[in-house]
Amino acid sequence: MADLNLQEIHDFMISIAKQAGERIIAAKPTTEGAGSKKNSVDLVTETDRAVETLVSTSLRERYPDFSFMGEETYKPGDKLTAAPTFICDPIDGTTNFVHRYPYVSISLGFAVDLEPTIGIVYNPFTQALYSAIKGQGAYLNQTHKLPLSPPTPLDTLNSCLVAVEWGSDRSGNDFKVKSETFKRLAATKENGGGMVHGLRSFGSAALNLCGVASGGLDIYWEAGCWAWDVCAGWVILTESGGKMVDANPGNWAPRVDERRYFAVRGGEAQKEIIEEFWGLVDGAFEVGI
Ligand code: IPD
Ligand code: CA
Repeated sequence: MADLNLQEIHDFMISIAKQAGERIIAAKPTTEGAGSKKNSVDLVTETDRAVETLVSTSLRERYPDFSFMGEETYKPGDKLTAAPTFICDPIDGTTNFVHRYPYVSISLGFAVDLEPTIGIVYNPFTQALYSAIKGQGAYLNQTHKLPLSPPTPLDTLNSCLVAVEWGSDRSGNDFKVKSETFKRLAATKENGGGMVHGLRSFGSAALNLCGVASGGLDIYWEAGCWAWDVCAGWVILTESGGKMVDANPGNWAPRVDERRYFAVRGGEAQKEIIEEFWGLVDGAFEVGI
């Protein structure tokens, strides 16, 4: 990695994310001419594809030796390698985009040796730009260091605000693990639950990770999403002091393409909260295994 100019790559990625943002803002958010992928809730639009083309073309032109992985051009069996790789979700929060709910981002990550190394997450509707380079801190709009303002102490699970997502798999083992765990997290202590302050489902993995990095959310837990949903947010999270572990109990060091993720913001009780949360997970996810 020594000969990579990470700052220059980061700056170029920001300029591409801003261009992508303009394209997203200008678009008519409809599934006409596009539609759904795996099932009727796995949406895709012409804009998802157009933005990915814009991003991949610009990155390949500037960095012809680097690899590129994007949601809209991924083929089953494609594997992330140790080569320097841009990992892009052109629109994270497509369902929100289609419904005109402004929790939408472009998620642009860069991994080296399979390690998330640069992360850019940009919401063009709110103009919130989150960015980080491994080892150099995480920022909002390149000026405000994350976490924002002194966050309240991270004490116990029952004082946490937790982001979870239903995702697009709506049956089978993993759907059951999610639904049952959601109930356990919400239930009272007397009933064996976590009695967390609240559960939130905003619809963008990348922005959820930035929410945890910022300190407004304490936890984000999900299985089923992909490397392009999390690579960028991962760097922003860990550079803010947060930690990423596996959504299934026991694995403290998931890969970026593990497809099971559990992010906790920085704070003294981080390890204890991870263990307490894992104790409430009802079953085990099969995705990624
Ligand atoms: C989705 C979002 C959502 C998460 C799904 C992702 P998309 O990405 O990040 O929050 O629950 O697993 O697939 O489809 O909007 O790019
Ligand atoms: Ca997407």
